Amino acid sequence: MDYVKVTSASQVSEGALVPVEAAGLKLLVTKVGGTYYATQRKCPHLGFNLCRGKIEGESVVCALHKAKFDLKTGQIERDPRLLFIGMKAKTDLTTYPVKETDGDIYVAVPSATQR
Ligand code: FES
Repeated sequence: MDYVKVTSASQVSEGALVPVEAAGLKLLVTKVGGTYYATQRKCPHLGFNLCRGKIEGESVVCALHKAKFDLKTGQIERDPRLLFIGMKAKTDLTTYPVKETDGDIYVAVPSATQR
């Protein structure tokens, strides 16, 4: 895993869902309670952009079918729903280690040879 600079900390306000890219991966970065999180940007259900969702507690909720994922572990906390029909997400959300150094945000992503 290599830490890659993705944005500056000033671009990630509390509760914002910020799209970033690292080593060709489309990710989102957010800050909740002062802690930064990084996850894949595509919802594991049908691929909707999670940056268009919202934060609930320490989770992200997809705007399309309301699936809810823990930002720390990526674990699904609520299955997607379409009207009254329950559906299943294909997988949990992939999360990535993230850190702030000198005002910049870095995300650890697998190098191309590790994917
Ligand atoms: S695409 Fe995200 S819940 Fe369906």
